[in-house]
Amino acid sequence: MYQNPPVLILGIETSCDETGVALYDAAAGILLGHVVHSQVAMHEAYGGVVPELASRDHIRRLVPLARGLFERAGRAPGDLGAVAYTEGPGLAGALLVGAAFAHALAAALGVPAIGIHHLEGHLLSPLLSARPPEFPFVALLVSGGHTQLMRVDGVGRYELLGETQDDAAGEAFDKTATLLGLGYPGGPALSQLAERGQAGRHNLPRPMIASGDLEFSFSGLKTAVLTLVRRAEATEQFRADVARAFQDAIVEVLVAKCMLAMERTNLTRLVVAGGVGANKQLRAALNARTASAGTEVYYPELELCTDNGAMIALAAALRMQAGLAAGGGHAFTVRPRWDLAAPR
Ligand code: KG4
Ligand code: ZN
Repeated sequence: MYQNPPVLILGIETSCDETGVALYDAAAGILLGHVVHSQVAMHEAYGGVVPELASRDHIRRLVPLARGLFERAGRAPGDLGAVAYTEGPGLAGALLVGAAFAHALAAALGVPAIGIHHLEGHLLSPLLSARPPEFPFVALLVSGGHTQLMRVDGVGRYELLGETQDDAAGEAFDKTATLLGLGYPGGPALSQLAERGQAGRHNLPRPMIASGDLEFSFSGLKTAVLTLVRRAEATEQFRADVARAFQDAIVEVLVAKCMLAMERTNLTRLVVAGGVGANKQLRAALNARTASAGTEVYYPELELCTDNGAMIALAAALRMQAGLAAGGGHAFTVRPRWDLAAPR
């Protein structure tokens, strides 16, 4: 266990289709720089992420991205005190690229390599913003692979309050976008289309909104959209109206469950993290509801909403400060499936 944070941490993120690299000065608490290469254009032709291509592209990108980052920050690998990487969950091959790079570099430098849970990175990422939240808080993690509500009492102290029973929120956005003829990933495109849509033209279900618990279900929404799309001629206005109806439904459910989670836990701070947290309508609705309830909502900087290396470096720094970073040796593995609330 490493009790004190080293001065400089390199953060590596390769769990899916973004290669992220960041330099975090843990002593000063400053992000010196970060860079993300998105593989979206490469996977677009296939309508989703192709794991083998993702791994190969991470291999191609990591060294040049890291070199450029060191140069711009005026630092050298020899200045590093630790190398942090995403250990899971994610695509096994893609994770292995980041883990192998991190361990090789750390072994060469004689510093620890720290494996980080991807979702821990996301939920701590608002701590890098200009207005960081204090513990404890409720965290809504909404990404392409996860939709979870967590109670966060401190670094490494996470309790799962509820999660999706089927599709993740981002997955629902992406699948619905495909039904509306939009490219991959569909979240941002669908939300732009929804801005031109008229509210109330179509009424979609609000799955599990009255279930009384903190669970979610989004697969029915996409089926409801499919039924709508099959019935009508897909004019531009029709597609925009359906996008708006979908976004209204999903936002209403997410907001209702966040408010319920704060009520149940008696917590007054909400943190929203993960790609869907970039959604404007979700942010506007959460801002309004928390303001009227006298509670507060926090987001990561927009550029840190999607996958990045900065959140991985930060999580490693905080774990080291808390004495929670297991180090030792470079016989490593990755965890493609990994429950954040499970004990390490
Ligand atoms: O956290 P993230 O970058 O990757 C992981 O899944 O870990 O999240 C990506 C997801 C995708 O499903 C994408 O469509 C969605 O976040 N997303 C959005 C928006 N921006 C990204 N969904 C809705 N509105 C957005 N503005
Ligand atoms: Zn993510």
